[in-house]
Amino acid sequence: MVEIPEHLLKRSKSARERMTGQTASSDDSSEIDESQNTTPAAEIDSPVEASPQKSEEPVVVVEDAPYVTAAKTRNKIPWWAASALLCLPIWAVVYVGTLERPSVEATGVLQHGAEIYAQRCSSCHGANGGGGAGYKLTDGEVMITFPHMEDMVEWITKGSDGFGVGNPYGSPERGRIVAGGMPAFGDVLNAEEIISVVLHERAVFGNSEEAVILATELDHTIEAGEMDLDMYFDAETITSSEIAEIFEDTH
Ligand code: HEC
Repeated sequence: MVEIPEHLLKRSKSARERMTGQTASSDDSSEIDESQNTTPAAEIDSPVEASPQKSEEPVVVVEDAPYVTAAKTRNKIPWWAASALLCLPIWAVVYVGTLERPSVEATGVLQHGAEIYAQRCSSCHGANGGGGAGYKLTDGEVMITFPHMEDMVEWITKGSDGFGVGNPYGSPERGRIVAGGMPAFGDVLNAEEIISVVLHERAVFGNSEEAVILATELDHTIEAGEMDLDMYFDAETITSSEIAEIFEDTH
């Protein structure tokens, strides 16, 4: 049972008395009583209008002008509500943030890629791509090493051994030389999984809008049954231009 606060009861009682025209009972007390015979706040537009009503009730001495009484008895915003209101903008920003973030990752291919990254790559490249045994991928780093997606797919398929220690990989301007330690994933992940994790890294760590668009197109193509990426890339023979051909139809 919810208890109705005392001040609310008094207010409703005095309001009822005003409506019925009955006088207050003797046990009523306090400032509410004093205001009971004044015009209800809603009716007060100006003190001039209110004054004839007052004169009908000569017994009551009204100390405050009706508008002063109205101001005094008006509900104020309680302190807790005021602090809640202050928090509203912060809450709004946080709430909008939670709405926006999943819309980038929630699509099929990008979501799948994030899962594969967590399972297969995060141990060396960091949970959020910040690096570890493997290079840092965030802050666009991954895009500098691999401006072209197909080269990155080839790299992940073949790994360090597939390229051979001492050989260059990635963009010539980047100047990466294979030092060893990056596993080959061609036999572990199928084509769809490798492409998904690559698109995830490029979209989320590389902030690549192109990767987000490609992922969306890929989702549509796969959903429509127009593309089957269940096969495995042959790490011995695959070339980046062959990989690039896969995406030509989706553009
Ligand atoms: C066992 C640790 C390890 C795991 C697991 C691993 N990597 Fe790597 N990765 C490396 C190392 C070490 C290098 C540098 C290789 C070299 O120099 O030969 C590297 C290099 C890379 C690069 C090139 C970065 C640059 O800027 O040169 C990319 C991209 C990459 N890895 C992606 C991945 C992806 C995607 C996965 C998961 C599917 C993954 N890695 C899993 C260790 C790892």
